[in-house]
Amino acid sequence: MAFASDEVGNYPKVGVGLAGFGSVGAGVYKHLQRNRRLLAERLGIELTVRRIVVRDASKKREPQPPRELFVSHWRELIADPEVQIVVELIGGVEEAFALVTDALRAGKIVVTANKALLAEHGQEIFKLAESKGVPVLFEAAVAGGIPIIKAVQEGFIGNRIESAHGIINGTCNYILTRMANERGLTYQAALAEASALGYAEADPTLDVSGWDAAHKAIILASLAYGFWVPPGDVYVHGIQGITAEDFVHAKRLGYNIKLLAILKAHADGAVEVRVHPTMIPHDHLLAEVDGVFNGILLWGDVVGETLFYGRGAGQDATSSAVLSDLAQAATDLIRDNEPNRFRPHGLYGRCLPIEQIRSEYYLRLSVKDQPGVLAGVAGILANRQIGISSVLQPPPMYPSNIPNPTASPEDLPALPAADSTGTHQHVDLILMLHFATHRQITEALEEISRLPYVSSDPKPALIHVEHLPE
Ligand SMILES: NC(=O)c1ccc[n+]([C@@H]2O[C@H](COP(=O)([O-])OP(=O)(O)OC[C@H]3O[C@@H](n4cnc5c(N)ncnc54)[C@H](OP(=O)(O)O)[C@@H]3O)[C@@H](O)[C@H]2O)c1
Repeated sequence: MAFASDEVGNYPKVGVGLAGFGSVGAGVYKHLQRNRRLLAERLGIELTVRRIVVRDASKKREPQPPRELFVSHWRELIADPEVQIVVELIGGVEEAFALVTDALRAGKIVVTANKALLAEHGQEIFKLAESKGVPVLFEAAVAGGIPIIKAVQEGFIGNRIESAHGIINGTCNYILTRMANERGLTYQAALAEASALGYAEADPTLDVSGWDAAHKAIILASLAYGFWVPPGDVYVHGIQGITAEDFVHAKRLGYNIKLLAILKAHADGAVEVRVHPTMIPHDHLLAEVDGVFNGILLWGDVVGETLFYGRGAGQDATSSAVLSDLAQAATDLIRDNEPNRFRPHGLYGRCLPIEQIRSEYYLRLSVKDQPGVLAGVAGILANRQIGISSVLQPPPMYPSNIPNPTASPEDLPALPAADSTGTHQHVDLILMLHFATHRQITEALEEISRLPYVSSDPKPALIHVEHLPE
């Protein structure tokens, strides 16, 4: 969707330095441009990319930023007075550590998506940030597009986190989902599939060994429990040993197998932090988090159970998390101490009346069981350009013949024999309808309701059908 104009008002500007322009860096740049005006209107601040650093500045990029934005070393990016927020997206640990600590020493706010860096050096980084009075933001480091960091830091601030169970590695979850769904599929075959689809790195060890999930678990546990969890204290077991037979047995026993990161708090102050393949009841919502998706079930002593679901990696989901950190950082810089508030802006601004809203529909009519009924109803719909996607005429339902939902087709009740009085009995006629406005469908329904063979008891029922985003 495009707004009428991309012209940004006269807002204070905050300069961003992008260290790294790979999958995530390019995504952040692209979406910062795309939602530039929306962000500016929401924040009352304009975020502007001032500098970019990569290893090879001559590489063609998509999108291609202006050449003059590129510098040859990240030290130049940090040294630039126009860069107020440094976004570390180079990955790896030691170089990223040097970059982040130099940025903090220079008093620049740091945004990073680097879970390995935080898991290994979180304690030193946050100590330095504290001493410099500069924030480090890392929403993208855990579960990609799911805002779990802000949920733990803000939404659940009044809760003791009793436990968290997370599917937080999309590669492993893809492999395990495929093994669960295709009987006999081996781990190696599922991994090869994940690689072919680009869901696994050329060297998938960090993912399948469980360590990528462990890095994220360490960050979550450290936030939840207030001390930096030493990586050596975390039990980590990967998915390489899971066989096709394990899935057959698990299914028979009513379970699914997932790589779970598990956090649990004990009354004596000890905590569990572990990552390993885990059998969970197959009908639990977490067991249905499939493919590359992530899911986190978090239990707070005040809120109870909450479930988060979404894309845990990928350019767009990760960029979404980085943008939220950038917005927070910019707000901290410009509006220090200003309370959270609602900022009205003019990018949207009217609610569509229901008459104009388009939807698909389920229409249930009670009609006399006689020839010509369907043609009559379909004619009225066609006159108003409403298409029918399917028609169903089930046998009448009496309390005594409502079928068991698990019944096989031959157990379904037979259509009752013709009425002995010779009059036509009423039967349900179900129509699934293509998109139409509310006005179109209500006018059509008024006309249909007046047909002599359409009953008013029960009245026609119209239910909106939504195909949810996949
Ligand atoms: N990809 C995801 O879905 C995802 C999800 C969550 C978190 N993350 C995290 O986000 C970070 C970035 O991931 P990515 O997938 O975007 O990585 P990537 O595609 O490999 O991109 C890395 C970028 O950093 C640049 N770079 C590497 N070392 C550098 C150095 N020493 N100096 C300057 N530039 C350097 C590279 O330059 P060239 O382009 O010239 O090679 C490249 O532009 C990682 O910490 C990763 O764990 C990624």
